[in-house]
Amino acid sequence: MASSIPGLRPVPLLKGRVNLMRFFGDPVGVMTKIYREHGKLGAVTAHDSSMVCAFGPEYNQEILANSRQFFNWADLPVEFPEGSPASRFGINLTAMNGGEHKRHRQMMQPPFLRSNIASYRDDMVETIEEVLADWPQQGTINLKDEMVRISMLVMMRCMFGLRVKEEALALGQMSLDFLSQAVNPAVMALPLNIPGTPYRKFLDFCGRFEAKFIELIEARRASDAPPKDVLGMLIVAADDEGTHFTNEELVGQTGLLFVAGHETTAFTLIWTVTLLAQHPEVYSKLQEELAPLQGEAPSHEQLAELKYLDAIIKESMRLLPATPNMFMRRGIDPFTLGGYELPSGAKVILSPLITHRMPELYEDPLAFHPERWETIKHSVYEFMPFGAGPRMCLGMGFADLEIRLALAMIVQRWRVALSPKTVVDTKVRGITMGPKKGYEVGVFTPDTEPELHPIQGTLRELVSFPK
Ligand code: HEM
Repeated sequence: MASSIPGLRPVPLLKGRVNLMRFFGDPVGVMTKIYREHGKLGAVTAHDSSMVCAFGPEYNQEILANSRQFFNWADLPVEFPEGSPASRFGINLTAMNGGEHKRHRQMMQPPFLRSNIASYRDDMVETIEEVLADWPQQGTINLKDEMVRISMLVMMRCMFGLRVKEEALALGQMSLDFLSQAVNPAVMALPLNIPGTPYRKFLDFCGRFEAKFIELIEARRASDAPPKDVLGMLIVAADDEGTHFTNEELVGQTGLLFVAGHETTAFTLIWTVTLLAQHPEVYSKLQEELAPLQGEAPSHEQLAELKYLDAIIKESMRLLPATPNMFMRRGIDPFTLGGYELPSGAKVILSPLITHRMPELYEDPLAFHPERWETIKHSVYEFMPFGAGPRMCLGMGFADLEIRLALAMIVQRWRVALSPKTVVDTKVRGITMGPKKGYEVGVFTPDTEPELHPIQGTLRELVSFPK
């Protein structure tokens, strides 16, 4: 049995600290380096088994299928005062393990059952229509802003039943502020509960944010209308003993749903539209597949028949998964991995992005080639943009429907093309990867064949674009 895992060299004197900071600053760069230099198993800091990367379907299965031994590790590197609103936002699925996770996950299942997902279709279409109504027939749009708007408004309508755009946008903006403050290094670096500090401002903000949630929950509890949105269904959900969620639990869980579902969906839409814009022949072929819809949004039955759309989305999520690395898993007991002994508490990093680029699984892995999905037979551990095992994404069906509808509606009505000299740098925040900044794209009538401008920026390191 080997005893020490090779990995990235530590910086002298600072030991593993610098490598840790490197990983949190640029997980994709660090994981890619470890994979290139050490293969499927490598430590973030050489010979330090407290944090290791394990890549490929075998390790994915070994870890993800064994949730008794490998707990989710989604802790923020900062603590909040006990009983404060900020601490209550931490009461959510990602922070739970074992029996508690199982119970909460079961209770959260109903709004995401296939039959209920289908019921969100009309609201999704109406919301996407509202956003697209503001697009010019020919002109430019900021792709990031527009995709974020679609995913935020869909979330607000389907999750909280907020139909009034201004109200939805106001709560959406609060949610975005919550997200950016929660990962703000200034909040974490100086956790001082003193007026004026970023930490204190975050605590105060959480109080106002929680009050807004409670207001929505109380209004829903007081209403006799049958629950149609996610919040309504969670309010009536019960465990095997008939116990319901408390208000605190509802705040934490619905807060998580927004955080987990909003950026991931927006980023997947951004990446897919960008890939389509840079692959005109794929764009045209998709337009041909969609032509029988005559400009309308597809029904459920029609969606099931749109095989090329399906292949395009799979290929986009293979190349640019919105979550390139998963939440870390923490071994409860000491364990062995790849012939190495690891202590209890050691953390394992798994990566859909690295797995999806293994040449033995995907030929010419950096190419965007949707046709490959006509023949690929993949296991859930080889293709896992939504994770795998008992913690697989709860909102997969929801996201999948929204992405398909939005793309089908956009591609039928516009030809999208990148503007000259567009720079697209990627950025991972938390565990999601999106564009560092927004960028303008040209939108044209669907029969236009716009000029193809080469893309610049770090996205080029992840995709081999045509010249
Ligand atoms: C394209 C969009 C999405 C992607 C790529 C995505 C990806 C993922 C992944 C990879 C995980 C597993 C993380 C891990 O095991 O470490 C996950 C978990 C989760 N996702 Fe999604 N997600 C998306 C959309 C959504 C939406 C729309 C919702 C809710 C409305 C949602 C709710 C959740 C929740 C609650 C979990 C935690 C599950 C648990 O711990 O049991 N996600 N997601």
